[in-house]
Amino acid sequence: MPKPPKKQRSSTKPTRAQRADKHDLYQRSVQDVESEIDFVDAQFKRIRKRRAAVLREDFCGTANSCCEWVRRRPGNRAIGVDLDQPTLDWGVAHNLSTLRPSQRDRITLLNRNVLEPGPKAKRVDAVLAMNFSYWIFKTRDELREYFSTVRRSLVKDGLFFLDFYGGPDSLKVTRERRDCRGFTYIWDQAEYDSLTGSYTCHIHFAFPDGSRLRNAFTYQWRLWNLTEIRDLLAEAGFSKSTVYLEGDDGEGGGDGQFAPAKVGENCLAWLAYIVVEP
Ligand SMILES: C[S@@+](CC[C@H](N)C(=O)[O-])C[C@H]1O[C@@H](n2cnc3c(N)ncnc32)[C@H](O)[C@@H]1O
Repeated sequence: MPKPPKKQRSSTKPTRAQRADKHDLYQRSVQDVESEIDFVDAQFKRIRKRRAAVLREDFCGTANSCCEWVRRRPGNRAIGVDLDQPTLDWGVAHNLSTLRPSQRDRITLLNRNVLEPGPKAKRVDAVLAMNFSYWIFKTRDELREYFSTVRRSLVKDGLFFLDFYGGPDSLKVTRERRDCRGFTYIWDQAEYDSLTGSYTCHIHFAFPDGSRLRNAFTYQWRLWNLTEIRDLLAEAGFSKSTVYLEGDDGEGGGDGQFAPAKVGENCLAWLAYIVVEP
């Protein structure tokens, strides 16, 4: 007589990792779109003596910054550009859906390469390339081409905003853990090739039940240095780039406040914004 199949427990509870939504975890642990948009809005006003109205978020992912931008003022419009349709779809279902119709109508999402953003992505006041996404471009030619595309998309007094991460710790193969509400965020600098600058990083998430979401996100970047970036911005035709460094919190960390800097302190790890003028 054949052996009956092993009895299965009908209610095997899925682990926290199995139930997790990686985009939701990313937004809660990595992004702070309120502070980012505060910075963009304030610096644009300070430098250009007017308010920006049309913002383009390159590498927009779930379009979280676009949503924050249109919430700020009824005249604001946002254009999000990303190659990955499923990620854009997640943004529509979870972020744009939380907006009022009058806000949602002021967002355009484009499933395109930022190197060819198309006619709907032109004549914008500000372009954002955040969370080091532009490090996807690994050669000087590619990165210069991207910067030129951005410059051609801006109105005459537009501004380009990028972020940057540097310091000797950025070269290390290392993991950094940070406790968030209900989970742990793990930043994994997995590989660095000192000959090519090729840099592989992952984001993992760990949960109190012991489960893990490994490689929720993987980035294959080149680790650029700040001087190279500023040189390439100039080669792409931008007239000025200003580096804003983060202040100290007095306990060895950053305080989230960024101010224009002329000299860079040689910290182990530091964050910066670069504000670029055509
Ligand atoms: C690190 S996420 C950035 C998410 C968000 N902008 C942020 O600040 O956290 C990188 C995104 O860039 C997109 N991406 C990568 N290469 C791209 C390209 N050439 N053009 C447009 N999007 C690209 C990916 O699909 C991914 O959603």
